[in-house]
Amino acid sequence: MPTPSEQTAPALPSTHDEWRAAYGLAPERDADFTTLGGIPIEPLYTAADRPTETADGQPDPSIGLPGQYPFTRGVYPSMYRGRLWTMRQFAGFGTAEETNERFRYLLDHGQTGLSTAFDMPSLMGHDSDHPLSLGEVGREGVAIDTVDDMQTLFQGIDLGAVSVSMTINAPAAIMLAYYAVAAERQGGGDAENPGVALDRLNGTIQADILKEYIAQKEWCFPVDPAMRVLGDMIEWSTHHMPRWNSVSISGYHIREAGATAAQELAFTLKDGLTYVEQAIERGLDVDDFAPRLSFFFNAQIDFFEEIAKYRAARRIWARELKETYGAKNPKSWLMRTHTQTAGVSLTAQQPYNNISRTAIEALAGVLGGTQSLHTNSHDEALALPTEEAVRIALRTQQIIAHETGVANTIDPLGGSWFVESLTDEMERQAYEYFRKIDELGGMVEAVKLSYPQREIAEAAFELQTAIEDERRIVVGVNAFTEGDDGEHPILKVDPALERKQLGNLQKVRAARDSTAVEAALVALKETAAKPDANLMPPLMDAARAHVSEGEIIHALQDVFGSYTETPVF
Ligand code: 3HC
Repeated sequence: MPTPSEQTAPALPSTHDEWRAAYGLAPERDADFTTLGGIPIEPLYTAADRPTETADGQPDPSIGLPGQYPFTRGVYPSMYRGRLWTMRQFAGFGTAEETNERFRYLLDHGQTGLSTAFDMPSLMGHDSDHPLSLGEVGREGVAIDTVDDMQTLFQGIDLGAVSVSMTINAPAAIMLAYYAVAAERQGGGDAENPGVALDRLNGTIQADILKEYIAQKEWCFPVDPAMRVLGDMIEWSTHHMPRWNSVSISGYHIREAGATAAQELAFTLKDGLTYVEQAIERGLDVDDFAPRLSFFFNAQIDFFEEIAKYRAARRIWARELKETYGAKNPKSWLMRTHTQTAGVSLTAQQPYNNISRTAIEALAGVLGGTQSLHTNSHDEALALPTEEAVRIALRTQQIIAHETGVANTIDPLGGSWFVESLTDEMERQAYEYFRKIDELGGMVEAVKLSYPQREIAEAAFELQTAIEDERRIVVGVNAFTEGDDGEHPILKVDPALERKQLGNLQKVRAARDSTAVEAALVALKETAAKPDANLMPPLMDAARAHVSEGEIIHALQDVFGSYTETPVF
């Protein structure tokens, strides 16, 4: 006896052609059926578009299984059934004291790792009392001038127990030295109470210098010496900090600058492969350093395109490390990544909508198999987040983790004809970019020629034009604009904190041994002048002598010079 729905429903088409004919009977909506990155999307995907088995009926090895080469389905065999991703909210403002309080607040609310945001002067290598720092001290992140600030930042937080990320690039080697010395001094740092040993430190420093020239534009030195400083850090931490992720190869800022998902994927992986080549050229064994190379990707709003991007990234990285660079240790093949939801997708208009955007983007990161996640706060298009906004952002991750059930099974979208075909397309586009970059002489040369910069500028222009022409809808911005959320509470960083930080710096300068400072700076310059010497040991000595970040940068610039960008329009 037919059910009511069977009686009324039209007969189901029995073949693809019949479906296509039936589909064509109704006109399509007037909409742009492409991904955010412009990839055309079919109305339906079937096994005919992307078989998930080989011709002889075997599972397709390019999809594989989690924890197995080529890791398309995830880097660990048990993924979130074994351990949830790390919930790691990026935080920092004011002086080290205020940020220390925020860190403790986040840990008290269930965050599982720390992520340090530095203020603009620290990111640019300026001390807080540099004329260019005026008005910027502690505004967008924490002000760190000396090792003393770093000690305050992590006071009462056991650096041997919590993994810490530090987002800093051009001056990364200095902050790494400050961090290592601060750990040494935790708990006393003397013979009886030796502090946290370097080999116990678990964390990540961003240090991804190529993407600075490509997208974020925070540099201190010309490209070649900057690459050398990064090489020194990778080499030194490989030998002394085996649990430390020596670089966080970051597509995030490339994407925020306007890149497509495929460009983010391609330029980021190519940056990473360039670091691998440099380290091998320095004489390191790929299996000694590659397991501690780490990644950082954006999670934009085009849900499936993002998921495909992470899956393609894992497959490409595994293949290149194994096949091209001869890595034998499976850990070297793993593309482990942190993910942050897209700051650029947040709107100042109707800011509560950003909670929904962030939830969807975070879900893409999770379904894409991320190891660590930051969810943006909904008020971040307006100011640094309030405590309440940060809490909602963290709760969003906790809801995904504990309520939705998406962490119950691994890579639930694996084998989806659509997701697998989009993954293949991402991979194809990435290799196309690799080829073009190789033709230009590699990534360092391509960056000097502004090639990735130009590609990103064009993509950014295309997207912005599409929004202005209303070919792309941004809710609350170019459609559905009626009604707003009213007055929105925002965090105001107290300008008195800048004066407080200047006082902190003056106190350190007055108390330190100026002969030791001079000696440390001379040693640093001598080492910088020798291309084969490693800068990390003299940086550690400079940190111990309380030399400030700006003083170190100036000393290094005396040897390396500074950088002026060729603008791209
Ligand atoms: N089975 C077995 N082991 C597992 C497992 C599983 N299912 N899941 C996790 N583990 C193990 C891992 O092997 C690891 O063990 P190890 O320490 O012995 O290697 C441990 O558990 C921790 O897991 P992960 O390494 O997967 O996760 P972490 O959180 O420790 O590390 C990372 C993740 C991506 C590798 C690391 O580099 C990281 O934390 N990165 C964060 C970077 C970050 O926060 N950046 C912020 C940038 S903000 C910014 O730039 C934006 C701004 O400018 C706007």
